[in-house]
Amino acid sequence: MKASRMQVCLILLWTTHSVQPNTPQAARVQVFPPVNFTLTVSALAQVLLHWEPNPAQDQKNDTIRYEVKILSPVPEEYDTRKTHSVRTVALHDGFSAHVRTLLLHNDLQMRSEWVQENLPPLPGAPETSITNLSCVTHLTISGTVSLHCSWLPGPGAPQDTEYFLFYRYKNHTEECHRYAKDKWDRNSGCSFPGTHIDPQEADDLVIHINGSSKSAAIKTFQQLFNPNAIEKVNVPRNITVSLEENHLLATWEKPISLFHEECFEYEFYLFNLKSGNKQILKLSSNKFRLRIDVTSRYSIQIRANHHTWCMRGLWSDWSEVIYVGQNKLENSVAWILAVLCVSTSCTFLLVALICKINRVWSKLFPPIPTPSNKFPDPFPVDYESQAAPAPSSHLTGVCFPEGPDLHQRHGDRVQQLG
Ligand SMILES: *[C@@H]1O[C@H](CO)[C@@H](O)[C@H](O)[C@H]1NC(C)=O
Ligand SMILES: *[C@@H]1O[C@H](CO)[C@@H](O)[C@H](O)[C@H]1NC(C)=O
Ligand SMILES: *[C@@H]1O[C@H](CO)[C@@H](O)[C@H](O)[C@H]1NC(C)=O
Ligand SMILES: *[C@@H]1O[C@H](CO)[C@@H](O)[C@H](O)[C@H]1NC(C)=O
Ligand SMILES: *[C@@H]1O[C@H](CO)[C@@H](O)[C@H](O)[C@H]1NC(C)=O
Ligand SMILES: *[C@@H]1O[C@H](CO)[C@@H](O)[C@H](O)[C@H]1NC(C)=O
Repeated sequence: MKASRMQVCLILLWTTHSVQPNTPQAARVQVFPPVNFTLTVSALAQVLLHWEPNPAQDQKNDTIRYEVKILSPVPEEYDTRKTHSVRTVALHDGFSAHVRTLLLHNDLQMRSEWVQENLPPLPGAPETSITNLSCVTHLTISGTVSLHCSWLPGPGAPQDTEYFLFYRYKNHTEECHRYAKDKWDRNSGCSFPGTHIDPQEADDLVIHINGSSKSAAIKTFQQLFNPNAIEKVNVPRNITVSLEENHLLATWEKPISLFHEECFEYEFYLFNLKSGNKQILKLSSNKFRLRIDVTSRYSIQIRANHHTWCMRGLWSDWSEVIYVGQNKLENSVAWILAVLCVSTSCTFLLVALICKINRVWSKLFPPIPTPSNKFPDPFPVDYESQAAPAPSSHLTGVCFPEGPDLHQRHGDRVQQLG
């Protein structure tokens, strides 16, 4: 206070000195502070600041303005030509502001001293106030806005404390009629199926919760909300999902909302039921095309929110689950087919291999003449050169069952060929 008074004096001195050479009357110009400054609570969480010009102030040919400085609960500074202003702010911890006159005289700005006013904090110990207030708005199909709030009783509130909730939007104030109760039957939440909140405007929503108890004063609690910032967005509508070759196509419509289509952002949840892979994709459009694994079945869900440039709300719930891709039955049939195929070809390979081994075996160990061979082989070396050019004849008998007489039979044929 002292410092600012000094400042005013210095400014006045400086003004006087700098102005004097041109205008002799300037030395006599004085700036007086406003009078009858009052603070009035005009609605829930709303204060009217009002003052009058100082009757001693000579206003001829001078521009008079007022500088207002709010000290608490939320510091703010502004100047105005009017002699009143209205502020919307939580008032449970009191309110304090000061105001002074600004005089523009011959291009010089002069300031008066400050006059200050305070509103005291609302009665009751701070611990009796509710805590953890949370509120959510929701745009209904009928176009009205519903409101739901919940809170916890103050840690210092007596057992018999009953809380009451009021909301104010512009000049409409309404008390709650649908309270939710905690296990001690105390009010701990409130729902308004319809409110006067205008979803197209960005006015503050005031929540005021006071209370009563036989044994103590319950301190009131107030909080301001931007209704759009606490809006629980609706779920995207008419979701259609289809498969086109190996792509998944999804389209949907924006949720019930007054916001433009461009205001929405979506999260697309894709779950591969075969591999267990989860993906959440952020999307700005309401059309989507994605390459997928066609042998898998997928489950899909979408949710919506406003983009940050359209005032972000709270994410909508996830949409109903939609399944796409081959179902489990088709999958098992395919599986059985695959197993059959593989086992058949394996058997084939095995048989072929056995036959081949046998051939090699018989090449490595030419058949031993058996007692049944009446004549010894005359050209044992020629056996190979004669057997080789005729693989087809061998193939005809590819799959003889393995047995002790196999070599013998080969031997017989060779001998016959020879
Ligand atoms: C200030 O308030 C007093 C008392 O209420 C009143 O007599 C006086 O006229 C007011 N002054 C102005 C300039 O309104
Ligand atoms: C106020 O301005 C008018 C012209 O705008 C002038 O005639 C008059 O002398 C001025 N009065 C003072 C006190 O400066
Ligand atoms: C209430 O709020 C406080 C501080 O914000 C937090 O630490 C606490 O966990 C909250 N209690 C509940 C039950 O949510
Ligand atoms: C609320 O304000 C509107 C204009 O802002 C006005 O038309 C209406 O009459 C007011 N209602 C009440 C109850 O003051
Ligand atoms: C709570 O606040 C409302 C609105 O200001 C008021 O009408 C009511 O009397 C208050 N109740 C208590 C118990 O203080
Ligand atoms: C969603 O689809 C239904 C029928 O297919 C249609 O009647 C309705 O208008 C669609 N919703 C929107 C928001 O277009």
